Amino acid sequence: MKAINKVIIWAMLACMPLLANASEGGVHLDKAPVNLQDQASLQRGAKLFTSRCLACHSAAAMRYNRLNDIGMSDDQIRAELELPEDVKVGSTMQAAMDAGSAKMAYGVAPPDLSVIARSRNADWLYTYMRSFYADAGRPSGWNNTVFPSVGMPFVLADMQGEQEAEMHEGHVSKLKLKEAGSMSAAEYDSAIADLTNYLVFMSEPAILVRHQIGWIVLIFLSVLLVLMYALKKEIWKDIH
Ligand code: HEC
Repeated sequence: MKAINKVIIWAMLACMPLLANASEGGVHLDKAPVNLQDQASLQRGAKLFTSRCLACHSAAAMRYNRLNDIGMSDDQIRAELELPEDVKVGSTMQAAMDAGSAKMAYGVAPPDLSVIARSRNADWLYTYMRSFYADAGRPSGWNNTVFPSVGMPFVLADMQGEQEAEMHEGHVSKLKLKEAGSMSAAEYDSAIADLTNYLVFMSEPAILVRHQIGWIVLIFLSVLLVLMYALKKEIWKDIH
């Protein structure tokens, strides 16, 4: 028995590095407050994503009507996301700009964002969207602390405002707001939390259903455990 306990403890310890999210390139990442149960947040994120990101990026694995899963009816999807007449609610999310022109304009084609929360994690995305700063040395005029020399211009500058980098020995030591945007820092963080929440949902829309199934299985197993224990007592009661 003792030996088995030891094996279990060692196995758990061995798995721990896999569970911890390694931060990339030594840059500090802020914890994204992801909550997939918060439908209002997911809907706000979906609106921000479709209005601001689909200009350049596609999400070709995502259909508009999967937003039914986060509580939006087909009519709401059409009205609130302002879908053009020729786009059906059953269509996949396509970029407004074609990849070729985008590559010409930004030097790199904007990647499809369908599963971006799996290739980059939620904390990375949450930090990335809050870490753009003005840099006159870059063609777009913008740089980013978690993605140095990024080709993407900062498209949410009207909301966050313009950040400036304080340099220390050739490295960015701190970002400071130089010019305010339409949102306060707390409002902007909250909008990006919604956007990140949405990107996590989009990377795995079935995750909501799977969580539900997970709970049902756990409840079933607990009931089974109680029944089995009662059965064991019944069988052994005459033998003791
Ligand atoms: C004006 C065009 C444009 C818009 C609008 C835009 N992006 Fe980008 N984005 C780019 C380009 C170009 C790149 C590629 C940058 C590179 O590889 O250097 C990029 C890269 C990214 C990346 C990094 C992908 C990776 O892992 O390499 C993420 C994440 C991203 N964009 C998210 C967003 C989100 C979220 C929005 C909406 C708020 C958005 N982008 C809006 C042009 C755009």
